[in-house]
Amino acid sequence: MAATGSAVGLGNIWKFPYITGENGGGAFVLIYLLCIFLMGVPIMMAEVMLGRRGRRNPVDSMRYLAEEMGHSQLWRFLGWLGVVAGFFILSYYSVIAGWAISYVFSTGAGTFAGADAELVGQHFDELTKSPLTLIFWHSIFMVITMIVVARGIEDGIEKAVRFLIPALFILMIVMVLYAMTTSGFADGLRFMFAPDFSKITTEGVLKAMGQAFFTLSIGMGAIMVYGAYLPKETSIAQTSFTIAIADTSVAVLAGVAIFPIVFSNGLEAGSGPGLIFVTLPLAFGNMAFGTFFGTLFFILLVFAAWSSSISLIEPAVAWLIENKNFSRIKASITLGLLTWVVGLGTVFSFNEWSYIALFDNTPLQGKTFFDVLDYLTSNIMLPLGGVLMAIFAGWLMKRTACEEELAINETAYLLWHFLVRYVTPVAVMLVFLNAIGVFS
Ligand code: PFF
Repeated sequence: MAATGSAVGLGNIWKFPYITGENGGGAFVLIYLLCIFLMGVPIMMAEVMLGRRGRRNPVDSMRYLAEEMGHSQLWRFLGWLGVVAGFFILSYYSVIAGWAISYVFSTGAGTFAGADAELVGQHFDELTKSPLTLIFWHSIFMVITMIVVARGIEDGIEKAVRFLIPALFILMIVMVLYAMTTSGFADGLRFMFAPDFSKITTEGVLKAMGQAFFTLSIGMGAIMVYGAYLPKETSIAQTSFTIAIADTSVAVLAGVAIFPIVFSNGLEAGSGPGLIFVTLPLAFGNMAFGTFFGTLFFILLVFAAWSSSISLIEPAVAWLIENKNFSRIKASITLGLLTWVVGLGTVFSFNEWSYIALFDNTPLQGKTFFDVLDYLTSNIMLPLGGVLMAIFAGWLMKRTACEEELAINETAYLLWHFLVRYVTPVAVMLVFLNAIGVFS
């Protein structure tokens, strides 16, 4: 449950639709789905397994496992890679979650009732052009996240997730039902599901892979930390598969709800990070009981972001507690403050620093601080972390240890082993090489 709470978040509802829109739709979705099931699920199984055997924060789990299996202590850097990735992801995640909080209030106040595309767009622009407002909501989100982390009340979250995800699911279905009544429904479906490979770039393939890792929360130790709490008798394969299905369903429903609204209102599918904040209020503004559904939707979205954000910072918190003798409270405050400061870079990416002259004539030209952070973490650090976990599990763990942990039948085991041992490392490598232009 907690891992599902980690997986389902802004990645599904905010990021998946907007990067699908930016990368041409169907072909991107298809590659994303392949990455989820051929790489995501086997790597998630590997990560949970490492966590359950390591039983510590990711850095020390890797150190311990490397020692147990007689391998280099350098493996602890894999843990580090994850700790750093989680920290950077949270810094921008919190800013976007802040947008969602602000939309709880604006939707609740009836701002979007009967609104047209122009008004909704204007509202979003005004919000993002105001650094102080963004800082305010970002601060609120960081505080509520760190309170849960500081008190170590993950079981509270776990209970919340039990009704939260189903509720979110039902609300997404309500949105899809609304989308079905709009004139752009067929176009929306075509955009999402009819692959047009001429629209996919080498960069798009890298992003589809990065999104698969991001949305499943794999490759950075968050799932490893939860694996450490997983009871011995729980099936790792079944758990991983269930999480992947739940996570993918929410993302696909979000897409099916959003693209019809895009096409019915003549909006731009590739308009970027604001996509759901423009399309969904439009839908709520024009459907029956829209203020109610809209407010509820944004509340659930904030909760979903919240249960993800806790897992982003938990590896770092656990490391400080276990290694630097920090109390849980002190670790949470320190990391919360640091994350908040780095988050300011994302806040300014949407206004003061929307153009960074420093990046001119470099490969980063035209990118913002937020773009760079997001790119590095999702598309490089997570796949790299994930593939190193796959390599560790597939090549360095003893077979008896793997079999004991996974406890699946022979055929399933062989399939998993083949995927982590050969398919994932080769695939990630090819996608990386492709992205830097080796094959073109
Ligand atoms: N999976 C989360 C989402 O889709 O919103 C984001 C995330 C959480 C990524 C935790 C990585 C992580 F460790």
